[in-house]
Amino acid sequence: MGEKTVRFGILGCGAIARFHADAIASLENASLIGVASASLEGAQRFAQEYQVKAYSNYQEMLADGNIDAVCICTPSGFHAENAIEALRANKHVVLEKPMAFTEAEARLIEAEVEKSGCVLTVICQLRFSEDVRRVKQLLADNALGKLVFCDLYMKYWRDQAYYASSNWKGTRRFDGGGALMNQGIHGVDLLLYLVGGAKVVHAKNVTRLHDIEVEDASVAMLEFDNGAIGVIEGSTCASPGFERRLEINGTKGSVILVENQIQKLIIDGETLVDRQSGAVNGAASNPMAFACDLHAVQLTNFIDAVCGRGELLITATEGARAVALIEEIYRFGLQRR
Ligand SMILES: NC(=O)c1ccc[n+]([C@@H]2O[C@H](COP(=O)([O-])OP(=O)(O)OC[C@H]3O[C@@H](n4cnc5c(N)ncnc54)[C@H](O)[C@@H]3O)[C@@H](O)[C@H]2O)c1
Repeated sequence: MGEKTVRFGILGCGAIARFHADAIASLENASLIGVASASLEGAQRFAQEYQVKAYSNYQEMLADGNIDAVCICTPSGFHAENAIEALRANKHVVLEKPMAFTEAEARLIEAEVEKSGCVLTVICQLRFSEDVRRVKQLLADNALGKLVFCDLYMKYWRDQAYYASSNWKGTRRFDGGGALMNQGIHGVDLLLYLVGGAKVVHAKNVTRLHDIEVEDASVAMLEFDNGAIGVIEGSTCASPGFERRLEINGTKGSVILVENQIQKLIIDGETLVDRQSGAVNGAASNPMAFACDLHAVQLTNFIDAVCGRGELLITATEGARAVALIEEIYRFGLQRR
């Protein structure tokens, strides 16, 4: 494809679709051709705002030879089928998280990617933030020594109105889970990306506050392939909501990431970063309190891969890792308390 522009369609015209549309608009070698949604009216409203075409349905969009790639921004329960349909129509795919609800479903997508020869990326935009890249490099250089603890805390807050205002959030069929599968998957992805694989030793998933079918608080104890131990805590009922915290402690040093920012970094007794909390870009109590800039960085990597200019960083295989771990945590059941 050389320097050619990648021509996008977006499926689903809700909150996150705007991030995709704005990210596409910010990139030189990307253009948005049109959108489709559950209803033609919804697509038309969105299309009018962005001055693009409204397709009457997904199939019409997939049949359009002017579309190279689709961004799938539908409720999570549709992701796997929407992605497979696009790949079968020979379109490249940007798939919102979570890519699927089970590892088996994720593997079906992977197999379809293989068969089609198309490029598919799963949105894990936080991996592209500068501080996350810095931590990744430090760990690759073994700068923290042997890892002892790898802990992830995601004590978020969502009120009942957040769930009540949506026809899919908090449902098993379309959200696939709660505090972990929806809000928490970003943190789980980062944890596994940074420190490697883990298995779940024990877990508890509870519904403590909300009138929903899935968990709003979860804790898991983990054993990492690298020998470290750790916990994941995720919630949407920890008032008033706190920023995501990832703490990695090793025998030579420690790092604490708050949202996407290194808050503390100490190596060999030397404090390299010591920030007070403050200007972080996070969604602790407001689901949309972040910018589209990291989506744009991930789309740039996707476009480079589609055009044969670079390696795709977040493949279906990568996207499946967090899904598989959350699925393992869910095997410990759900209790209402
Ligand atoms: N990467 C991130 O940080 C991030 C943030 C928020 C949401 N998300 C993900 O994006 C997805 C959408 O979330 P949202 O908050 O935009 O939801 P939303 O409810 O605001 O929007 C969903 C849109 O999809 C449409 N839709 C529903 N069923 C459809 C179908 N079968 N076919 C076509 N369109 C359909 C709806 O009409 C709506 O326009 C979810 O999977 C969510 O996990 C990701």
